[in-house]
Amino acid sequence: MGPTRTASALALALVAGFQGVRVAADPAAPPTFNRTIAPLLYRNCAVCHHPGGSAPFSLLTYQEAKKRDRQITVVTESRFMPPWLPERGAPRLARERGLTSDEIALLRRWYEAGAPEGDPADRPAPPRFAEGWALGAPDLELEAPEAYVLPAEGRDVFRTLIIPIPTTSKRYVRAIDLRPGGIFRTTMRSPEGKEFPNIGCYLEVVPNERLVWTDALLPGYRPSENPFFTAMILLETHGTGTRYTAIGLHRDEAGRKQHEEMGFQEGWGKALDQLVGVAKRM
Ligand code: HEC
Repeated sequence: MGPTRTASALALALVAGFQGVRVAADPAAPPTFNRTIAPLLYRNCAVCHHPGGSAPFSLLTYQEAKKRDRQITVVTESRFMPPWLPERGAPRLARERGLTSDEIALLRRWYEAGAPEGDPADRPAPPRFAEGWALGAPDLELEAPEAYVLPAEGRDVFRTLIIPIPTTSKRYVRAIDLRPGGIFRTTMRSPEGKEFPNIGCYLEVVPNERLVWTDALLPGYRPSENPFFTAMILLETHGTGTRYTAIGLHRDEAGRKQHEEMGFQEGWGKALDQLVGVAKRM
């Protein structure tokens, strides 16, 4: 029993020491991103404000939140964010989305203190979100017969999309997971494991002819801060075959060079060889 008791005594001492540090923190000190604001944003905002999420920008990192520190106080104080349409009050609904007045006040204090970042050791791991279907693989996938283009600006649109359901037996719907189209999102990973995420939107989609996309515009045609390139893939009849042309348009010479060094030509050539391989097996 001896060693066990020693171990638990040690653990207790550690816990006590840890709490001591917490209590010692000055209650009047401004909240920091890492300790107070990140958990709040992760809990209440990240579900939409993450890369590839339904909101137009992410709020996962310090830089992302800092850039919008003032705007965050404005939209939370007006209760425009987090969005929640039902009127507040009785009866209370389960899982209401909203911040308490204390949480809203915390965001303001953080902003007014100059949005300090704080100790990186305090920062919790950001939440992870499923790629693609948020609720897991669906039992039935339906696609609207025609794309519906939602304007980037304007009032909310409430629209009924009529989608034929190819089922003959009775089915009960347990959950619906909506996936808007139009987002172009790829992440390239180098052999060393470095990631190059790229998010943008399609500009032109002509089946069997051309595919044009850019990262100069984000989904919903919002201008992006750091555009890198616009890409075109052209397919043309050539004799009995098809000519495939891939073009990358860059902002400047430096961008072109950077892309070349990332292996643009070689990589895309390889992708084409793989495509030809697939076609031959069909
Ligand atoms: C249910 C999804 C969702 C949640 C949750 C959410 N947002 Fe948003 N947020 C959006 C969308 C969508 C927009 C774009 C709205 C628009 O442009 O009209 C937006 C826009 C914003 C904007 C820009 C407002 C503007 O005037 O352009 C800010 C700032 C913001 N959100 C902060 C937050 C914060 C802070 C939280 C958490 C406390 C939060 N949001 C929670 C979906 C969400």
